[in-house]
Amino acid sequence: MDIQATDSAPSPTDFELHAGRGRFNASFFRLMDPYLEWTLRRHKREVFASLPHAVVEIGPGVGANLRYLPAGGTLVAIEPNRYMHGRLRAAARQAGVGLDLRERMAEKIGLPDHSVDTVISSLVLCTLQDPATVLAEVRRILRLGGTFRFIEHVAARKGTPTRAAQRILRRPWAWTFEGCSRERDLEHSMRAAGFESVVIDRYRVHTPFLPFNTHIAGVARS
Ligand SMILES: C[S@@+](CC[C@H](N)C(=O)[O-])C[C@H]1O[C@@H](n2cnc3c(N)ncnc32)[C@H](O)[C@@H]1O
Repeated sequence: MDIQATDSAPSPTDFELHAGRGRFNASFFRLMDPYLEWTLRRHKREVFASLPHAVVEIGPGVGANLRYLPAGGTLVAIEPNRYMHGRLRAAARQAGVGLDLRERMAEKIGLPDHSVDTVISSLVLCTLQDPATVLAEVRRILRLGGTFRFIEHVAARKGTPTRAAQRILRRPWAWTFEGCSRERDLEHSMRAAGFESVVIDRYRVHTPFLPFNTHIAGVARS
């Protein structure tokens, strides 16, 4: 896959990058990487199994999913937080994966229509201002039969203690984690996005971070 950008937006225009929080999040996800990997590994191994040599990832952060790419492969990384970039580059070198890093937002990925076989993401749709716009963009760049493979945390069922915790902590959580919402029904967003088929596994992880514990993992086919 030889992916050429259709336009050259060097920097995101609407991404509100707060230097302090941008740096904090880069350090946080770097430090938490072993723990998050241990917590999510079972579903990541299923959803990211046998990735092809060229993959587009939206919001790769510091490179948590590079370990699932084949060595010698290429990652097109759509990552607007430039404070993540240093660690992402280092992690790609370490994994033996070629990195095509684009400092831009997934709302406008800048790749041609139907040019990509595989798009992946983890823990990103919770942070996007408008997941529907990004899902439409993912569909636009995927080839017929191409897949979007994702791991996301979602809203717990109404009336549960987890949902109450998600509600109570929503403001400090969103402030700390750059707009992250724990209250999204992303399963509905995925099914409403117009993919040819969507397979979703709903599950619970067990961490002390109660609002983070309700998840989905799945594959949407174009
Ligand atoms: C919670 S972090 C997850 C990082 C990584 N995927 C992981 O699993 O560790 C969310 C990531 O999404 C990125 N992000 C936020 N808004 C974005 C947007 N509009 N387009 C692409 N990436 C975005 C953030 O910069 C950050 O790297």
